[in-house]
Amino acid sequence: MSVRNILMAASLALSVLIGLVLSRGGAHGGTATSSKPLIGLSLDTLKEARWQKDRDLFVQRAAELGADVNVQSANGDDNQQIRNVESILTAGAKVLVIAPHDGVAMARAVEMAHKVGVPVIAYDRLVKNCDLDLYLSFDNEAVGQMQGQFIADHLPANGGKLRLLRIYGAPTDNNARQFKAGQDKVLGPLIESGRVQVVREDWAEDWKPENAKRITNAAITDTGGQFDAVLASNDGTAGGAIQSLLEAGLAGKILVTGQDAELPACQRIAAGTQTMTIYKPIKVLATKGAEAAFALALGKPLIASAGVDNGKVVVPSILEKVFVVTRDNLRDTVIKDGFLSEAEVYGATPNR
Ligand code: BGC
Repeated sequence: MSVRNILMAASLALSVLIGLVLSRGGAHGGTATSSKPLIGLSLDTLKEARWQKDRDLFVQRAAELGADVNVQSANGDDNQQIRNVESILTAGAKVLVIAPHDGVAMARAVEMAHKVGVPVIAYDRLVKNCDLDLYLSFDNEAVGQMQGQFIADHLPANGGKLRLLRIYGAPTDNNARQFKAGQDKVLGPLIESGRVQVVREDWAEDWKPENAKRITNAAITDTGGQFDAVLASNDGTAGGAIQSLLEAGLAGKILVTGQDAELPACQRIAAGTQTMTIYKPIKVLATKGAEAAFALALGKPLIASAGVDNGKVVVPSILEKVFVVTRDNLRDTVIKDGFLSEAEVYGATPNR
């Protein structure tokens, strides 16, 4: 029988505890207090490098703590993700950690886990409209705000307008909507005042680079290549957009944003074809994810610093900080942090 407490603090600054969520009954196997629990980690995808890092760092920390991890990837398929969760629960996991492909559809996975007394942590992406136990992510709205601010900081000096192509992420991913909301906070007023003109905007299904490329091709065709910036919501979509710009002879002439500080993106930043990315310290998230999962599996209390409304409940949440990366601070951010090495980023051109 697992007894689990999550204490939710309204704000770290105030250090005031505002909530207490008590245990979900440990009907599942009754050995939640055993010292080597099984953690289930259900990922949407392992295609992007960031998710491979998440997996490796999570498993490593769990092993240090003395837990086993059953890792499953759904390859962007909701039915597959439900089957993965079924097999995790059948294997006797004491806690489910899930990065949903579809944040609405995976409410079902949360219900399945709860039916057998297994608590659920949404990892990086929120699961909507369910009794989720904990949400662990980065400050996704801040990601969008930083991307938007970067565009705002590059308006033409003469008061002229900036022509912008906006590429959002997967419409099924709540994060993609949060990134857009953050971008809108900064860009909304500039679009309204006419300082920013959106030449095209679209969602890249499943975050696929080829979809971003297609959207960029269409913008080039429509405008004859007459735009100033691409607000790509992550590095994968930035890569697709830059491929299209390369083929049109425009790479390096148009500002391109990103997110994740993936190796190819940092190499493009060093080379000048991508202008910025957002560094999200995956190690912090994966480590805290494994620690939180371990604590919940053993029925120990957890302190969360925020609360996020998922449409049904205010979910106790831990949201980590993010950082802007440009050509000027690659060394002071991702390289200094050991996220990527100097040799990886700069390869044969170390003095850039
Ligand atoms: C994550 C991003 C990632 C994207 C595509 C989002 O939910 O927050 O870091 O690039 O998914 O996998």
